[in-house]
Amino acid sequence: MAEKKDVVIIGAGAAGMMCAIEAGKRGRRVLVIDHAKAPGEKIRISGGGRCNFTNIHAGPKNFLSANPHFCKSALARYGARDFLALVEKHGIAWHEKTLGQLFCDHSAKDIIRMLLAEMRDAAAELRLETTVASVERHGAGFRVMTGDGPVDAQSLVVASGGKSIPKMGATGLAYKIAEQFGLALVETRPGLVPLTLDPVQLETIGELAGVAADAEARSGKTAFREAVLITHRGLSGPAILQISSYWREGQDIVLRLMPDIDIASILKGLRRTNGKQAVQTALGDILPRRLAQFFADGAKLTGRQLADLSDKTIDALSASIQAWAIKPAGSEGYRTAEVTLGGVDTNGLDSKTMQAKAVPGLYFVGECVDVTGWLGGYNFQWAWASGFAAGQDV
Ligand code: FDA
Repeated sequence: MAEKKDVVIIGAGAAGMMCAIEAGKRGRRVLVIDHAKAPGEKIRISGGGRCNFTNIHAGPKNFLSANPHFCKSALARYGARDFLALVEKHGIAWHEKTLGQLFCDHSAKDIIRMLLAEMRDAAAELRLETTVASVERHGAGFRVMTGDGPVDAQSLVVASGGKSIPKMGATGLAYKIAEQFGLALVETRPGLVPLTLDPVQLETIGELAGVAADAEARSGKTAFREAVLITHRGLSGPAILQISSYWREGQDIVLRLMPDIDIASILKGLRRTNGKQAVQTALGDILPRRLAQFFADGAKLTGRQLADLSDKTIDALSASIQAWAIKPAGSEGYRTAEVTLGGVDTNGLDSKTMQAKAVPGLYFVGECVDVTGWLGGYNFQWAWASGFAAGQDV
């Protein structure tokens, strides 16, 4: 005999738990299934253990999707301030770090405890270490074959996340279920991920491993201003993670180091007032020393005095620093990517409810949907908002 529920949710991550809370509050009999030992594992490791749980400025402009309008409705109905109100209701101390990013003062586990408490209050059941063998249509609803036996439900919510960090339990199950029911997929790729360089580039740039600098990182028309970090494998740091979601193989990333400073003007001024100064010394007052030496060497100007430089030479040197084009070889992939770009095509989903238009009762929420946020709390905000939207409808 199959167990009967109103709603089965696959995945006890951010989106699945939010959906369970909202559906449970409406009196629906909810079962959340997860194959992991603990719920919300990505919440636990997020934000360096403090969970950047939302961004106070979150809006549609902060998300990538083949249909940039899709996320509007859910974000309007459940915004950053709604989640913050929940955090405050539970007395969780928080702070704004930078650029509207809200973090827990103490631990990301506070957020998991909060969601579990809300689930208990809403009488939503959680079953961990439970596998999903198959999912099929059963009458007007669905039958989920779990490791513990069959469960029948009117509504099935797929909240099993994307492909990022397979070590933490990511499986790509959502895409399989979407395909099984005839929903289209937008090609997936790793997002918010460090970029790698080829061995030839690493021979020169690799010597800068460990250097960080303020920069604007540009790919095509999109640019992010934050820190860039050079690693022994390539490029990282928040500006690179951000731009990685827009970058495609074969394209350049253009770095403008020290974007607030007009390096050419400064060097020309110093040429007048301190002409005997060596080029690498002058650059060393503007850039981290190893970068200063790298660019002076690259321009074959190490040891030369500023007074010897023509305007053209200074302009070229400055451009090498403030329009530094690098062609990454690839990315670190799903092993370290914070998110998965692409996923269930939003054309097949109702933006108000997350329900599959062609399959009544089937819902997709969170990262498995083709809506991906920037770095900075946006991805959790999408998980909360899409989970909330489905929770009102299942
Ligand atoms: P999520 O991946 O959280 O949950 C899916 C659940 O489904 C998991 O519990 C998994 O075990 C389960 N599951 C998967 N396959 C299954 C199967 N076959 N059967 C049963 N269960 C299955 N975002 C942000 O806004 N702020 C931040 O600070 C961070 N920090 C961060 C750090 C790191 C290291 C990573 C990897 C990611 C982040 N993120 C982030 C991104 C954020 O974690 C992500 O967007 C959300 O967790 C997505 O929530 P979901 O609920 O959609 O999936």
